[in-house]
Amino acid sequence: MSDTYPIVTYQAPSIRERSIEVSIEEITTKEFQDYLDKLTKTMRVEDGIGIASPQVGINKRIFIANIKGKNIVFINPLIIKKSETTLITEEGCLSVPGVWGTVSRPKKISIEAIDRHGRKLNMDLKNMDAIVFQHELDHLDGILFVDKVIEITRGKNPIIN
Ligand code: CO
Repeated sequence: MSDTYPIVTYQAPSIRERSIEVSIEEITTKEFQDYLDKLTKTMRVEDGIGIASPQVGINKRIFIANIKGKNIVFINPLIIKKSETTLITEEGCLSVPGVWGTVSRPKKISIEAIDRHGRKLNMDLKNMDAIVFQHELDHLDGILFVDKVIEITRGKNPIIN
């Protein structure tokens, strides 16, 4: 059995679905912990700074993001506060290979989630950490950066033809 998942791209139905909340009981199972390890490894192998569960075809509200220099698991993540100030950065996505473009998002956010041990997680994020979190959170609602793109900087937007 492989220890990484294949990445599914924007054509896959799972990419456009709203993902489902994870139960606390599920988090502590070995099966679930193994899945988190496999998802983390997939992100590393694919050289991503974030990966959301629907990107491997599993529609659960989970993503992993490299934030504050660490790979952090966010389960049932929420944004509880966001700044009026926005930041425009260039984004790419493992599920939209070969395409980059600029997106505007709130520069600072306060978030809430559950960590991989089932504990509540609260963080204040800014700049790239905030951007990565928001990009990954969008995946859990079936939204891709190309839906919000201001300008495509590399490649061709596969969504608008
Ligand atoms: Co993405």
